[in-house]
Amino acid sequence: MTIKNLFLNPPIKEKVSIKGWVKTFRANRFISVNDGSSLQSIQCVVDYDNTAEVILNKINTGASIKVNGTLVESQGKGQSIEIQVEKIEILGECDPELYPIQPKKHSLEFLRENAHLRARTSTFSSIFRIRSSISFAIHKYFKENGFFYINTPIVTGSDAEGAGEMFKVTTLDINKAEVNDNNEIDFSKDFFGKETNLTVSGQLEAENMAMGLGKVYTFGPTFRAENSNTSRHLAEFWMIEPEMAFYDLSDNMNLAEHFIKSVLDYIVKDCKEDLYFLNQRLINEDKSKPAQERNELNLLERLDFVINNDFVRITYSEAYEILKNSKPNKKKKFKFPISDWGVDLQSEHERYLVEKHFKKPVIIFDYPAKIKAFYMRMNEDGKTVKAMDILFPGIGEIVGGSQREERLDILKSRIKELKIDEKELWWYLDLRKFGTVEHSGFGLGLERLILFATGMTNIRDVIPFPRTPKNAEF
Ligand code: 4AD
Ligand code: MG
Repeated sequence: MTIKNLFLNPPIKEKVSIKGWVKTFRANRFISVNDGSSLQSIQCVVDYDNTAEVILNKINTGASIKVNGTLVESQGKGQSIEIQVEKIEILGECDPELYPIQPKKHSLEFLRENAHLRARTSTFSSIFRIRSSISFAIHKYFKENGFFYINTPIVTGSDAEGAGEMFKVTTLDINKAEVNDNNEIDFSKDFFGKETNLTVSGQLEAENMAMGLGKVYTFGPTFRAENSNTSRHLAEFWMIEPEMAFYDLSDNMNLAEHFIKSVLDYIVKDCKEDLYFLNQRLINEDKSKPAQERNELNLLERLDFVINNDFVRITYSEAYEILKNSKPNKKKKFKFPISDWGVDLQSEHERYLVEKHFKKPVIIFDYPAKIKAFYMRMNEDGKTVKAMDILFPGIGEIVGGSQREERLDILKSRIKELKIDEKELWWYLDLRKFGTVEHSGFGLGLERLILFATGMTNIRDVIPFPRTPKNAEF
């Protein structure tokens, strides 16, 4: 039986058998065992006099054990039920001198260095159970709303975002690669006969699928070789990208807002125990901070607030005016001052809008064309595009999306302007030749949503094995 089920439906006075890892062993009598099925550990009470010394000596934190016994209502404080041990088997020993995860508080940094063992801790097992629940909620939402789950290629020949931040994929021996007349590596000799890379977004292919299936979404690994060593960037992350035929920008924003709220609402109900635990963890952490650095709302209140309040919607130009006239800008407190219209918004600006000015999630739309990707639909003003970003407290950008340029001539001229090779995108342009329609989509970074849902502050703590610059351990 899993320990979760023991607590859900306790078979009192019956024989039970569980397997798990020892969290603690107190007074040669009380073993606390966890099997990962939930946050709860079961207390197993050992009959000291009738248990062999060799076994007792091996009941160490981290050891895996099998326990047979009778489930009873607990005599002691702190737990409702416990197992009176009749037989105990050591499945895998654990040397207490060597095991890094001791029954005490470890720093998140230390646990990151021991990422292979951190799923044994309450904090990380909670985070990863929530991660699993969020992924399920995402599929559930789309299934219930008429979307089809599609898979787009991980190896691609195109740069969807046009930012050039890609990992190359090649089977060429780079020390011996043949070069052409321009002294460039000859990729026609490579595995695919052309230059390929790991995908930075499945959007372009998802657009093609939406033009036949109507509403689709991708949910897969995404790779960015940007050298951003921040608490919000990963080199390998998971992105959810819905794409919808016949949707304009405002339909797109409505969907994104409803989608995020629905997913958060699902986990608030599905992950109560883990969320309470993380909430308490943050409340305790806050207590050790100076008053002005403490969170105004606790984690559960923050989730509740986002689920039950409308996101603010403003244009880039409105956001620009607010930021330009803001105190930190006038007092030169921003690292990147807001000067002329058209500047890109940095995370400090996004967080000012969300955390100080509006105190709510904010959707900014109609961005200047020159700071956005080639595929976004040009507005009548010829200066802005139908882009939208959703900004969240504590995180900044969580969603980036747009209405797509469906007019062939305008798209072609954008591609030309940005010096993108039109030949590489022939299949993308074909969509605009054969029954083109208005369509939209967005990308949500899974890990950024998990940051918000768990109250964690470093993205390396919400993915089991983070990939970041200079780090591909495990
Ligand atoms: O804004 P981005 O770059 O948008 C796209 O890739 C579009 N093609 C999506 C679409 O319209 N289908 O990325 C979308 C989201 C960001 O808002 C962020 O949440 C996440 O992906 N993201 C990252 N998450 C972690 N680490 C990184 N390096 C990320 N880069 C983007
Ligand atoms: Mg973006």
